[in-house]
Amino acid sequence: MTDQTALIPNPVAQAADRTNARKVFIKTYGCQMNVYDSVRMGDALASEGYVTTDTAEDADLVLLNTCHIREKAADKVYSALGRLRDMKKERNAEGRELMIGVTGCVAQAEGEEILRRSSAVDVVIGPQTYHRLPQALKRARQGERVVDTDYAVEDKFEHLPVPDKKVIRSRGVTSFLTVQEGCDKFCTFCVVPYTRGSEVSRPLAQILDEANKLVDAGVREITLLGQNVNAWHGTGLDGSSWGLGDLLYRLAEIPGLARLRYTTSHPRDMDDRLIEAHRDLRALMPYLHLPVQAGSDRVLKAMNRRHTAEEYVRLIERIRAARPDIALSGDFIVGFPGETDAEFEDTLKLVETVRYAQSFSFKYSTRPGTPGAELGSQVAEEVKAERLERLQALLLKQQHEFAESCVGKVIDILLEKPGRMPEQLIGRSPWLQSVNVDAKSSQIGDIISVRIVGTGPNSLFAERIER
Ligand code: SAH
Ligand code: SF4
Ligand code: F3S
Repeated sequence: MTDQTALIPNPVAQAADRTNARKVFIKTYGCQMNVYDSVRMGDALASEGYVTTDTAEDADLVLLNTCHIREKAADKVYSALGRLRDMKKERNAEGRELMIGVTGCVAQAEGEEILRRSSAVDVVIGPQTYHRLPQALKRARQGERVVDTDYAVEDKFEHLPVPDKKVIRSRGVTSFLTVQEGCDKFCTFCVVPYTRGSEVSRPLAQILDEANKLVDAGVREITLLGQNVNAWHGTGLDGSSWGLGDLLYRLAEIPGLARLRYTTSHPRDMDDRLIEAHRDLRALMPYLHLPVQAGSDRVLKAMNRRHTAEEYVRLIERIRAARPDIALSGDFIVGFPGETDAEFEDTLKLVETVRYAQSFSFKYSTRPGTPGAELGSQVAEEVKAERLERLQALLLKQQHEFAESCVGKVIDILLEKPGRMPEQLIGRSPWLQSVNVDAKSSQIGDIISVRIVGTGPNSLFAERIER
């Protein structure tokens, strides 16, 4: 998972002409799984008559779908709740309703505590129970303050409605699809095993059904999601045990599904079949987010990552041998407790060896309840800041070098959305870069060949070619 604060695209078609309907604004923090969950919560509420809106001001219900991964992420929630409390007071003075819900990983981690800290909150619902959101809102409307963070016995996906084709298509030609949730790895810095619970894989039939529905509605690219997506396993069509590689081979057979991606993987779960899928499947994009976190074996061990730097580098070599044009992305943490200057230098060395096309790097943030928080030797804030600056300078240099290496290449891009200029669209390269190109909006969803002619700060420029 990359941790990017993202706003979910609101299904415009759904909001169009039902002005009397109740409106929900969903603010999404954190990773792609939260983005996916926000969409599904919107679906659950749509079947109760809610339409989505883009602003809290316009909404009757505001949901904060939260992230607990670093201290700052959790702090953001409480400052947003402060603003919402004032808004709710003004609304109530006018005799209008404003309900406030906290969902996601802060909800799971803090539960009741959220009600104590913020009087404005009506419902607190964890990532495993959001299919019960409509019932919780009904109870809240009768005056109850609801906390529902149990790990539900029932499978939430079985209880969530799937919207019609028009709504799915209005969300774009790419889609996320959660196939796995939770984590059993217990890296010593990380809250995810506590907020998302233990690893669960969605059954194959459910995944195929959802993928088929997405493709039927016009989706061309699916990104499979999981906190540890490559730990996905299930019973295959032939009755044997399947891993993520087998699932990708099967999904690649769906007519009309042009592109597949998956995130986030753990190095320990990159098995041979998955590497073969990268070799064999044209639909599987040559891009892999494979976090390593640190380059020192002592730090990796203290983080409980359960592999060495050398093993990671060997693994990358095998993946590159199977798919030479693959681009790599990674996550890094600087200043894990006890990390020395020399150990930090090992991270820089590993980055030099691997060469990343994209990356996400963070200062270690102490998370209550994780083993890392118990370690004595916390690294000073200035040291973390200085290390992060050095690491990011190197990673940014590699990102630019990768972008520059694309100039002159002829590649296929998937046209995704309008660009800033009229008659310009933004497409996606196989390596997840945004590509600006002249094209008509009727071409959204097409895959076209382009020549990359230049690079911008966060995107590439291309001209069309006929092939
Ligand atoms: N399963 C995903 C984890 C998602 S968290 C994975 O293994 O990549 C995304 C990233 O946040 C992690 O890879 C890690 O780099 C970072 N992260 C997690 N806990 C953190 C902490 N306590 N402090 C700083 N960064 C952290
Ligand atoms: Fe967190 Fe580690 Fe699990 Fe990723 S693999 S979610 S970093 S515990
Ligand atoms: Fe954050 Fe939860 Fe994702 S803690 S990174 S929203 S799994």
